[in-house]
Amino acid sequence: MNTNEKNTGSKLVPVDPFDIVVFGATGDLALRKLLPALFHRWRDGQIPAECKIIGASRTMMGRDAFIANVEKHYHTYYPEEKNGADDWNAFAKHLHYCTLDVSSKDADWHELETLLVGGEDKIRLFYLALPPELFGPVSVNIGARKLNTLLARIVLEKPIGHDLASARDINNAVGKIFPEHAIFRIDHYLGKETVQNLLILRFSNSLFEPIWNANVVDHVQITVAETVGAGQRASYYNTSGALRDMVQNHMLQLLCLVAMEPPSDFGSDTIRDEKIKVLRALRTITSATATTNTVRGQYRDGAINGKAVSGYAQELGQPTDIETYAALKVGIDNWRWSGVPFYLRTGKRMAGRRSEIVIQFKRVAHALTPPEAGHLHPTRLVIRLQPDEGVKLLLMTKDPGPGGMRLRYVPLNLSYADTFCARYPDAYERVLMAVVRNDLGLFMRRDEVEAAWQWIDSILAAWKSDEARCHSYAAGTDGPTQGAMLIDRGGREWFDGL
Ligand code: BG6
Repeated sequence: MNTNEKNTGSKLVPVDPFDIVVFGATGDLALRKLLPALFHRWRDGQIPAECKIIGASRTMMGRDAFIANVEKHYHTYYPEEKNGADDWNAFAKHLHYCTLDVSSKDADWHELETLLVGGEDKIRLFYLALPPELFGPVSVNIGARKLNTLLARIVLEKPIGHDLASARDINNAVGKIFPEHAIFRIDHYLGKETVQNLLILRFSNSLFEPIWNANVVDHVQITVAETVGAGQRASYYNTSGALRDMVQNHMLQLLCLVAMEPPSDFGSDTIRDEKIKVLRALRTITSATATTNTVRGQYRDGAINGKAVSGYAQELGQPTDIETYAALKVGIDNWRWSGVPFYLRTGKRMAGRRSEIVIQFKRVAHALTPPEAGHLHPTRLVIRLQPDEGVKLLLMTKDPGPGGMRLRYVPLNLSYADTFCARYPDAYERVLMAVVRNDLGLFMRRDEVEAAWQWIDSILAAWKSDEARCHSYAAGTDGPTQGAMLIDRGGREWFDGL
């Protein structure tokens, strides 16, 4: 019995045999997320025996050294997982490696071509865990060598470019070799259990849809706070910043799922059609509105869980004004959300790790209880994506017992850990299997990525023209005070738990 069945009673749906080539196989993403995700799917019995997992990277090493490297990193990143040597040896039979410098025009692809021989009729995945400027050249090389078989799919890791123009260039270059239906642009947030549940919560319960609009909702908050810093990714991060790294993709995807109209079915294009309508309705932030509607911040040294940590500029080794924190007040110009602000904030080295969506409803029209009974809080629906996944509806109740009327603000609590299993697949496990199954709904379509960049570009331009100040915040705090002032200007406050 696999772990899923034991814990949840859920079914493990087998996938067809496939080969996957992971470009960038010795990089952080591959070793921390992708290869462990494949191992977990193998352990659950979902990887058919004939699958090849081929790592490709510039690092000169043999197959055995690659396997040892994958295993070493797995134990570092997943110390709590106990797997016997037998498990690893059996999984390692799937692993292969080839040294390949895809950035070189004359790279020798022969080793990879040989490894793929015999798999022409299998599903074939090319996973590009590479910088976006290589997406075009790698696709061209795949095409030139006719490796893009009928069942080949290309998986593009974010970021897809660094602005609209570069995203279009990438989409054009990759699109010359792969049809749109074979291009899987990953946003791993769409693979998170609670993000998927958002659609079910909204559209499979009759309670929410009638109140999910400007008549009843006061505002929405979306927070993705991390305690990690830019660390070893500091130099990549310095070309990106929080707006490009988190808002352009993960946070806008969450916003779309909260704000979109009900789709007519679960079809991948039906959902993507609805999401893009939201992106197109986002009010443009201009240099005239950027000052009041956006905040940039960068962490300086401080402490996380009592441990001293360096500031971002120190990690990078030079002064920089790239933001590690961004907060935005976003308007959606459509009938449903007219006048309802969406507040987004994300930051590294924050006080705690927390990804959460808060739907805050309007206050009651008239207070029945006297002030001494206690404060009347607004009803809030809190969707916790991580950690402690769950959904809470925060309500006013009467504190039971004698002593007069006393109000209490308490949650109706659906905790995933209490209700379901202790472990369900990581987002990367789900998105990888979705590529094999050809389920495009969890991936971003070309027009979606471009619409998101178009909106983000106007903020970047406003920040540039205004030279928007990057406020400093101590590591281990909730970001710069300007972030609190952004929401306070609307007479509201960030909801940071009861
Ligand atoms: C990535 C960003 O896409 O998402 C990282 O590039 C960020 O900077 C990460 O840390 C957060 O993902 P998760 O799943 O840990 O919330």
